[in-house]
Amino acid sequence: MEWGMKNRLSRLIQKDGKALFLPVDHGYFQGPTHGLEKPEETIKPIIQYADALMLTRGVLRNCIDPAIEKPIIMRVSGAVTVVGEDLANESVVTSIQEILRLNAMAVSMSVFAGTKYENKSLSNLAKLVDECEDYGVPVMAVTAVGKELEKREARYLALVARVSAELGARVVKTYYCKENFEKVVDGCPVPVVMAGGPKTESQKEVFDFVYDGLQKGAIGVNLGRNIWQTENPVASIRAIRAIIHENYTPQEALDLFNQVKAGKA
Ligand code: R5P
Repeated sequence: MEWGMKNRLSRLIQKDGKALFLPVDHGYFQGPTHGLEKPEETIKPIIQYADALMLTRGVLRNCIDPAIEKPIIMRVSGAVTVVGEDLANESVVTSIQEILRLNAMAVSMSVFAGTKYENKSLSNLAKLVDECEDYGVPVMAVTAVGKELEKREARYLALVARVSAELGARVVKTYYCKENFEKVVDGCPVPVVMAGGPKTESQKEVFDFVYDGLQKGAIGVNLGRNIWQTENPVASIRAIRAIIHENYTPQEALDLFNQVKAGKA
């Protein structure tokens, strides 16, 4: 691996081999979604606890102080919306010149297995990898499976994770699944991070799955709504950070969450 690629990956994946990526890219297809109406306000109290920030170039340019010290993972696929025909029909929407100009430490794009746009999104991934590898920029595949596979079973998650790594992704984002999650991680030759998905009923559910996923080999999370849509985003991200970087158990994380919430930590 060349120096530039190694250097960028080392800014993202910390010395302990773990990572907490904070995605605030949801507006790229959802518009001003709840909790991200003003991304700069959402990010302000929690960014210090993240290892990297994931967003689009538009939010980066308009809402983020260029003096930010956290590395940026730039989402570069999109051009679809929640009211459109099919969310899987994405294109790559940012050039390599723009990626370098905005000093992204990595880029991310979605891939959709099991949809009618499977070939398009996987081909886009391969082309993006070709362009980015020339400049030492890692590509993170944000994996998803089509409607008929929506159950998030390990065999489908493992399939799309592995295919993304085979096409050259340096990091894969997947969803967690309760059964056989280790198969997703073990079958993927590059580091795996977990998304949070829609906000859960309780904080403990998030702490439980982050902990379990880490035990099964994930290196961390790319987790948004279950931080910034919660009642106390600072308490939430601090507890998740403690699980990832300080080996807290879910119960210890919950205790920390409650202490932060009560202003005692
Ligand atoms: C989807 O909008 C994005 O790719 C998110 O970055 C990804 O789904 C992780 O965010 P969350 O934890 O909110 O699912």
